[in-house]
Amino acid sequence: MTPTFSLNSKNKIPQIGLGVWQIRNDQVAQVVVWALAAGYRHIDTAKVYGNEVGVGLGIAQSGLKRTDIFVTTKLYLTDILDPQRGLHDSLTRLGLDYVDLYLIHWPFPFWQSAWKKMSTLVDSGLTKSIGVSNFSIKQLEALKKLGGFIPAVNQIELSPFSYKKELVDYCQSQGIIVEAYSPLTHGHLIQNQKISRLAAKYQHTNPQILLRWGLQHNFVILPKSTSQNHLKDNLNIFDFEINSSDMAQLDSLNQNYSVLFPGWSPQK
Ligand SMILES: NC(=O)c1ccc[n+]([C@@H]2O[C@H](COP(=O)([O-])OP(=O)(O)OC[C@H]3O[C@@H](n4cnc5c(N)ncnc54)[C@H](OP(=O)(O)O)[C@@H]3O)[C@@H](O)[C@H]2O)c1
Repeated sequence: MTPTFSLNSKNKIPQIGLGVWQIRNDQVAQVVVWALAAGYRHIDTAKVYGNEVGVGLGIAQSGLKRTDIFVTTKLYLTDILDPQRGLHDSLTRLGLDYVDLYLIHWPFPFWQSAWKKMSTLVDSGLTKSIGVSNFSIKQLEALKKLGGFIPAVNQIELSPFSYKKELVDYCQSQGIIVEAYSPLTHGHLIQNQKISRLAAKYQHTNPQILLRWGLQHNFVILPKSTSQNHLKDNLNIFDFEINSSDMAQLDSLNQNYSVLFPGWSPQK
């Protein structure tokens, strides 16, 4: 079982979650079943991924209790004026009564009014916690001034090649759990030579080094895989520790790398 963090809502979040972006709706149920059988207890989806129906099927087929699985989905631009409708429709597609975490997917226009409305979704039990994704320090500061809930998490792009230290430090100082998306650089930089050297040194694979780096920074990490073997490998990162000088070397690989188009992922 993966370790958990306590969110500011007092709910617990498993430190490793399965990311399902770009997994087809007709494929994702099988991947979710494999992941839950392997030990994952946290699934990260979004309305815009178009696979909530399949994610819900996988959860139902897993035979696990709903309360044993942490499910996140996200509010997209199309529902920004009516988060209640957005979440209601996501829950219908997922076949669930509640999610554990509902995030504003990106600071779309009108995110401020959406955030105020999202608090009511916690009160009505449709989500246990609320948070944001791709928010910068400036936007988090503006959110704080609105009063009300502080986000339980900020989900941002993080890997050694995309290490937003200032933003991470700010979130962690505010008690906001940092979630690392694209922790494997979407597959693009897995084979980097410096990562390979550390993989040989620690006798683990390159993806395991990238994921372990995230764990040691106290991030929730959200690797995506459609391979049963990779799913298992990505959980096997608790039997070694990267020393502090190698962690510093990994930190120094930052090149503000961005998997998505410029402007999607805030640098600070
Ligand atoms: N909030 C946002 O705006 C946002 C944006 C992007 C992503 N996300 C979230 O973050 C999740 C992860 O990010 P991502 O989808 O960009 O990808 P990622 O996890 O960084 O990388 C996935 C890629 O790595 C490969 N891979 C995974 N494990 C491997 C292993 N052990 N060995 C070799 N290759 C491996 C996968 O191929 P195989 O399938 O063949 O294993 C896939 O090509 C998303 O699914 C989503 O939930 C959120």
